[in-house]
Order: sequence, then C-alpha cells, then structure tokens
Amino acid sequence: MKKVNVGIVGYGTVGNGVAKILEEKKQLLKKKSGVNINLCKVYTRNWNKEFLYPLPEEKKAYSYEEFINDENMDIVVELTGGIDFPLKLIKEAIEKGKHIVTANKALLAEKGKEVFSLAEEKGIRVGYEAAVAGGIPIIRALREGLVANKIEKIYGILNGTTNYILTKMYKEGLDFDTVLKEAQELGYAEADPTLDINGTDAAHKIAILASLSYGGFIDFSQVYIEGIEHIDSLDIDLGRELGYTLKLLAIAKGHNGEVEVRVHPTFLPDENPLSKVDGVFNAVMVEGDAVGETMFYGKGAGSMPTASSVVSDIVDIAKSIALGVGREIEITSMNWEHKDLVLTKVKDFYTRYYVRFTVPDITGVLAKISTVFAKYNISIAAVIQKEKVLSLTKKKQEKVVPLVILTHTASENSIQNAIKEIEQQKITEEKTILIRVEDEES
Ligand code: HSE
Repeated sequence: MKKVNVGIVGYGTVGNGVAKILEEKKQLLKKKSGVNINLCKVYTRNWNKEFLYPLPEEKKAYSYEEFINDENMDIVVELTGGIDFPLKLIKEAIEKGKHIVTANKALLAEKGKEVFSLAEEKGIRVGYEAAVAGGIPIIRALREGLVANKIEKIYGILNGTTNYILTKMYKEGLDFDTVLKEAQELGYAEADPTLDINGTDAAHKIAILASLSYGGFIDFSQVYIEGIEHIDSLDIDLGRELGYTLKLLAIAKGHNGEVEVRVHPTFLPDENPLSKVDGVFNAVMVEGDAVGETMFYGKGAGSMPTASSVVSDIVDIAKSIALGVGREIEITSMNWEHKDLVLTKVKDFYTRYYVRFTVPDITGVLAKISTVFAKYNISIAAVIQKEKVLSLTKKKQEKVVPLVILTHTASENSIQNAIKEIEQQKITEEKTILIRVEDEES
C-alpha cells in the first residue's frame, strides 16, 4: 500500500484536531482511501505549552528549516493565521514539489491568484475545503457534485460569530454590545472579533466560492462588505413585523458576464430556510441551472469539524498521489481560469430595501418622502410608522418616530440618491438606516 507523508504547520485548535484524526483513525482512513497516510512532522513556534492532542517528540519540528527541508513530506498542511508567513511557506513548499492543504481563507481570497498560478505551473494541488464553512463540504460539492451546473446564485451564512450575535439579538431582544460581550465570555467570539463583526471573514469565504463558481480571480478589494456592528435591535423588531429575519448574508450572483459579490446585513423572509439557521451554525444555498436550489448546513468552525474538512483534502490528494496523478497530471485545484472576473459595481446592485427614517410625527412628512421615492422610480411595498417606540429614550419618543419603508426591487444608485435628497431636505432627525432585503423579487 502506498504511503503518503503529511506535515502540518501551525498546531492550534484545528491542527490538534487534524493530528487526532490522522492518528486515531489511521485504519479507517486506510480502509476508505487505500492509502497509508502518515503524519510525519508538525511545526509550531512554541512547543512549551499544553496541547489538546500531545505529540511524541519524533513528530515535532523545532525549526521552520527542519520542517520545510524534510524530503519525505508529500503534503504540507498550512494551519497558521495571517497572510505573509503562510504565503512564504506555501510558495516554498510548492517550489519543493509538495502538495498543499490550507484552511486559510484570507490568504486564498487575497492572494489566491499568486498561489494557484504557481501551483498550476508546478503541477501541484492545493486543497482548501476547510477555508470555507468549516466542516461543510461545500468546495467539493461545487467542484464535483454540482459540476453539471451553471451556478446562478450562491449565498449563505458563512460566519458563526455574527450569526450567534444576530440570533441572540432576535430571540432575546438584547443589544449588540451585550451579546458580543457574552459571546466573548463563552468563547464563541474571538478576543479580537473585528474581522468577523465587520464582515471581512464572510467576504473572504464568499470570494473563494464566487471564484470557484464563476471560474476566475476576484479582486478582493472590490468586494462590497458591510458588517453588523451598527445593527440596532429596533430594526430587528421592525423587520420581524414585516416577516423578516436579519442575517449577515454573503451573496454571489452571476449575470450578464459580471459577478455580484457582497456581504451585508440582510433581511430574509421568515420562510427562507436560512432564516432558521441559528447560533454558530453556517449554511450555504446554491442555485444551479440543472439541480435547482440546494442547501448545505453544518458547523462552520471548531477543531473537529474543520479538521474533518482538512483531512478530506489530505485523503483526496493522497489518493491521487497513490494513483500517480498527483504531480504528473495536473488537476486544477480551483477550476479557475486565468482570467479576472468583472465585479458588478455597487451602484448597479438591484435588490429590495428596508429603509428606516427617524422623523417628527407631523403632517406632510410621509408625503415628502414618498415624492422623492417616486422621483427616483422606487416603488413602495409597505410602510410602518410607530406612534411610540419603547426602545427610544423618553426624550426621543416625544419628538420623533421611526418610519419604515419597504421597497420593491430598485437599484442601489436610486435608493442612495433618494436617501441623500431626503436627508438634504432636513426631514429626518437621525442618520437613515438602510438594510437590503433578499427575496424572490430581487
Ligand atoms: N471566525 C469564524 C466564524 C470561523 O465565526 O465563523 C472561522 O472562519
């Protein structure tokens, strides 16, 4: 039986899970793959601490050089963080003819072109199942299970931290800061949750899915990203009255030769299955022209779910090495062509909108607002105005009311211009809140 040697760089939560599976499920993996997968070396900067899955001395590398120069290693599993070090490591490993498995979404979303171009040139495979949605095998589903489809739309909840926060806000009526603090205490949110909260983490993941679905490279700086840090529980409550649940949605849609890639808080109809995805879970909906709508659900983070995906890549690559189709016959890892995808400009997004104005409750306000909407050809679908809102301070309750307008599909350009014009008329007392709505009509 062919033996394939695997090395891991970065021995944190996921690394420990991968080592545990490779060691404890060695026989099972052998039986399922027909390959003897051997964990040969692990490199981490500091071995002087407690590990969930302690390793014997002979598997520890004490320097980067010792690790990278191990000639027996067939596959390098990169499980560090950040971009600079893993990029250097992966490029060096590729140059040395080693296949790569990585869970690093930031690296692939921002430097994918560099990594995949070099890998292709050298006939190296790059596995990245764990980079998107942790334990959900969405990459393999897109590459293999849904290969017969033109992907029309792919969208989902790709960040567990923000989904946990929004779920708590929705179910318990708590405000953002309270829930974030609690999530950090429970270990659901990182000590520094900035990249989760501001949408960057979900954007990295949808950029990878969009590249794979639409076959080209994405300029990550052009991806539209909005986080949940300014979400007010008042909007969650008002959205609920309209039959909507608020989620941080990552969306990619292909149309007219362009791809629309965006991440932002989004109202979803309560009957959309994604509205029921609660807590730290992730879910992805894929619409293909042959298959129709499919949904993938599971744990998007954590030691063992993420390790499950990492090991699936290791086994996949190990099998192709054993069959002799590893380095010799290139199997394009990403299905990316060498072209840059054209991203739709923000002003050209078309969707429905929830707009909350904060206005004085006096004659003519609604008329003025609806006149501006009509001027920009924005059709109003529903209106809610509250006489008094308990979550506003007493002083504010006496002076202003929230006026919510739900629109039919309109262009981003029109809605932004309409809001600007309304604010210039000084009808509103506070900054207007705009939340996009994703439903059938959009
Ligand atoms: N921090 C991510 C999340 C998991 O909260 O979903 C790793 O991508």
